[in-house]
Amino acid sequence: MDHNLKTVLLNVMYAKSVALRDHSLQTAEISSMIVRNLLDSGNDPACSPEDAYTAGLLHDIGKLFVSESILNKPSVLTDREMETMRLHTSWGLQFVKNTSLERYAEVVVHHHENAAGTGYPHGLRASELAPLTKVVRIADTLSALLEDRPYRRSIADDRFILSQMEQDLEGLFNGSSEIVCKAVINYLSAFRKHKAIKEDSYAYA
Ligand SMILES: [Fe+2]
Ligand SMILES: [Fe+2]
Repeated sequence: MDHNLKTVLLNVMYAKSVALRDHSLQTAEISSMIVRNLLDSGNDPACSPEDAYTAGLLHDIGKLFVSESILNKPSVLTDREMETMRLHTSWGLQFVKNTSLERYAEVVVHHHENAAGTGYPHGLRASELAPLTKVVRIADTLSALLEDRPYRRSIADDRFILSQMEQDLEGLFNGSSEIVCKAVINYLSAFRKHKAIKEDSYAYA
């Protein structure tokens, strides 16, 4: 993605919600890391790390159209608010449609589908999802588990995180799920190390 466009997008997200900007950046980083790990292990991810990064950055772009009172609500969303929130997949499609970002439309619309076919908006099965969408789907889930939510703190137990992701990892990546799982573990260890260094530097500030 063009550097200027990336800066503009990140600034617009930041103005709307710091959490949205941070989550989009983290999803982009994890997505490109998964693809790099697949490439390094001789698998064909059917997309480049750069494409995965851009797709990760854009996946929640439709949240720019969700009101700030819902997006930044410090408590659990009501069913009605959740319904509105879920529309971010189709609103995101409107954002990328007829632009140079249109090739990421599939990711924007389908990143909440899952291996069991119980996701939204279309309840698709793993076989119906594009390779890039599967990568962002996993990266999005990992980033969400690492975020603070109004009803829970960021999850600190890596084994619990992996158990939560197991079904989708196996369902979405069957033949290469071990490699993707390793990429998730690598990301978690880098994330924990970075967090510990940051906390250390706060302690001595
Ligand atoms: Fe989303
Ligand atoms: Fe997301």
